[in-house]
Amino acid sequence: MNYGLPYMGSKNFIAEWVLSKIPPRTNFYDLFCGGGAITHAALLAKKHRRFFMNDLNPFSALFFDAVSGKYHNEKRWISRETFEREKTKDPYIAFVWSFGNNGADYLYSKEIEPWKRALHYSRVFGDDSLLKEIGVPCSSSTWIKKNHDFCKEKYILWYTGNVMKTEVEVAEIRKNLSENIKKNTEYLQNYLLDGLKKSGKRPCDVDRYLGTNGMASHYSGKLQWEFPTKEVYEKLQNFLYLPVPYLEIYGLQELMQSLESLQRLQRLQRLQRLESLQSLERLQRLQRLESLQRMQRMQRLEFTNLSYKDVKILPDSVIYCDIPYRNTATYIINDGGFDYEEFYNWAQNQTELVIISEYQMPEGFTCIGQKSKRSILSATANNEVKECLFIPTKQLNLYNYLNNSLFNFD
Ligand SMILES: C[S@@+](CC[C@H](N)C(=O)[O-])C[C@H]1O[C@@H](n2cnc3c(N)ncnc32)[C@H](O)[C@@H]1O
Repeated sequence: MNYGLPYMGSKNFIAEWVLSKIPPRTNFYDLFCGGGAITHAALLAKKHRRFFMNDLNPFSALFFDAVSGKYHNEKRWISRETFEREKTKDPYIAFVWSFGNNGADYLYSKEIEPWKRALHYSRVFGDDSLLKEIGVPCSSSTWIKKNHDFCKEKYILWYTGNVMKTEVEVAEIRKNLSENIKKNTEYLQNYLLDGLKKSGKRPCDVDRYLGTNGMASHYSGKLQWEFPTKEVYEKLQNFLYLPVPYLEIYGLQELMQSLESLQRLQRLQRLQRLESLQSLERLQRLQRLESLQRMQRMQRLEFTNLSYKDVKILPDSVIYCDIPYRNTATYIINDGGFDYEEFYNWAQNQTELVIISEYQMPEGFTCIGQKSKRSILSATANNEVKECLFIPTKQLNLYNYLNNSLFNFD
């Protein structure tokens, strides 16, 4: 069972265990809900009537939105440009359309994007015209999987002919691709060096001109060499002797590099399977959460985007807090602003039961459960960490009392 959405530090794997330690009350608060794993498990556990999820990160609304059916009719194809423009504003785009759900990088590589677009049009809109244009006669997953090499070949031909719009003899280049790339790299390196020499400039002059620090050494040296982007190249043309237009000088190299990464697709099958559409799989995962909607109406689920201390707690509640772990490198960077002392004080002052996930807590808190778990955030040799649940020590009697109550909601 997958609880919630993939999220750094998700409690997906221990969600059922956490829920088993949370006593029944009318209201359940998940004040640091992240991807919603614990709220999801709580909705299914039926120990509470009302559910309040909260997180300071507005992107946590995605779980709530999905349960509410917001993505029921979602069909859009999100291009790389749309992704770059919208990723910081739209949680759906950031989650579904990013690589490894990292919210930062576009899901598909540049070379494979048109293929996935054609597949999206076919599967989502029922429009096979883009696949046909590529030369693929059938859109079924099984067929594409079975005819993988055929599809790949068709796609490479289509891509080089249509996207790159080049006159170059593709078949010839493909014969000795790596060698050709190497040769052309040397040619481009010399072209840039020549441009520098003929203009009587040094790399530091280029840096000064561009306002960069050491970037020029990448263009003129051989180590970590790279060709300037189109924008930089065109700027440099005003300063150095670089007579050839960008596309003319760099187009071939770009084409060869694209070809090389397309050839690699065979080896990257697991990541870039031609027949699969990861964006659609993820959307379907979101849409499946709609089945919780019935409960939402009956039992009421709410989402707030506040700091935990600003959430109003109703009487007869249990409050679960999955705070950013203290002393975990990743969170020091991401949640460096979290004030632990303030949180400990807040927890000690609550009248409703507070249950906290942490590895360690200061004096005044008691561990009520412990479970080993593997964590990529851990620095130990086998990546094993002990997940603990704590409560304020002064709530021990309350905790024992609530746990002994046989009250369960159906
Ligand atoms: C460990 S993660 C929670 C993971 C979540 N339980 C799950 O399974 O996906 C910690 C969360 O605390 C949130 N957070 C950090 N400071 C916060 C604050 N002051 N108030 C509310 N949420 C906060 C972060 O945005 C992050 O989502």
